[in-house]
Amino acid sequence: MNIVVGVSGGIAAYKSVQLVRLLVKAGHDVTVVPTDDALRFVGTPTWEAISRNPVTTSVHDDVAKVRHVALGQGADLVVVAPATANTIARMAAGIADNLLGTTLLATLAPVLVAPAMHTEMWRHPATQANIATLADRGVHLIGPAEGELAGGDIGPGRMVEPEEIADAALALLAPPDLAGLRVVVSAGGTREPLDPVRYLGNRSSGRQGVALAAEAAARGAEVVLVAANISADVLSDARHPSISIVPAGSAAELGAAMREAAVGADAIVMSAAVADYRPATVSDRKLTKDGGGIPSIALVENEDIVAALVRERTDAAVIVAFAAETPQSEDELIERARRKQSRKGVDVLVVNEVGWERGFESASNDVRILGRGGELVTTTAGSKREVAAAVWDAVIAAR
Ligand code: CTP
Repeated sequence: MNIVVGVSGGIAAYKSVQLVRLLVKAGHDVTVVPTDDALRFVGTPTWEAISRNPVTTSVHDDVAKVRHVALGQGADLVVVAPATANTIARMAAGIADNLLGTTLLATLAPVLVAPAMHTEMWRHPATQANIATLADRGVHLIGPAEGELAGGDIGPGRMVEPEEIADAALALLAPPDLAGLRVVVSAGGTREPLDPVRYLGNRSSGRQGVALAAEAAARGAEVVLVAANISADVLSDARHPSISIVPAGSAAELGAAMREAAVGADAIVMSAAVADYRPATVSDRKLTKDGGGIPSIALVENEDIVAALVRERTDAAVIVAFAAETPQSEDELIERARRKQSRKGVDVLVVNEVGWERGFESASNDVRILGRGGELVTTTAGSKREVAAAVWDAVIAAR
């Protein structure tokens, strides 16, 4: 979707760099519209590099494309962060002598405003009256937060943290079509210990599962994310008040966590890469070369967790599995996927082709989604967040 981020001239402008980054990471096309003042804090090259779009402040650039109204008309959401007292006053009065002003007047999209200013300015009756005017018009406000302000004063006026603004922005964009639902997502890859320092593992980063959790939360669901060995960096995208994270290491731990979380769930999505086998014995002490010779590792089979969740299901939960395949043709891909779907008994199957260079540790994904009857409901290629959106659409269709 198209998001315009208006930045006005406050020191919090530097935090909006992170906001823009998060919105781009979530798969959106972001155009930054700074005021001239904002550029004194953070310059055009930074905004262009982070947003991957050209930046201008003038209503006289790109006149042939009527940029001064086109940006607002084409926006699905406008976020103003930071919004200074001055910008808030101009918004309330409808002043349009810069690109941000014309964009705001030309848009019918939801507008989210994150004020940032000194406490005295925030509390001033003029600002409060302007805020009330904006709220009456349906503008969404977030913050300001209490805290330390530039110059060391303490009080309300601090811009809310960019992660929180991004969540609020994404929630405004997302249809609240999962509101009231409790969903469980597994993500990451299991590790099957051999001894205290070694394990058998796989290349799953957990990005797709984290995107599934974040998308579900943005669409109104309460989410349990069972996370198997996901790095803190990847997991940070799942920071949301409606997401609770349950760590799990091995397949056995993941199975136990999923069983517990599945009780009363409306949907269960198994995106974790689960080891099919584990070492038959786990040594309490580090295995050494002392024994001589090259060891072989005896394996025993792990439970198929998703198949067990299907077998044991008592509620009407929609159950989704993933399949990573290395087929030689599209037909073989779908054929293998259908067989896997019926073997596991899942309602929805998301299949992607993987290989040495494909599918793992990357920001994007390319999937086919099979619905209840094994029919192909979607083919989606895009960011993991876009794929996540398509998966939840399929879950809703299967309900
Ligand atoms: N899965 C599971 N428990 C396991 C293995 C896999 O719940 N012990 C789930 C995965 O989370 C995924 C789906 O089953 O949603 C498909 O996993 P995949 O490894 O592709 O399927 P397998 O059953 O292992 O089949 P194969 O390896 O023969 O392709």
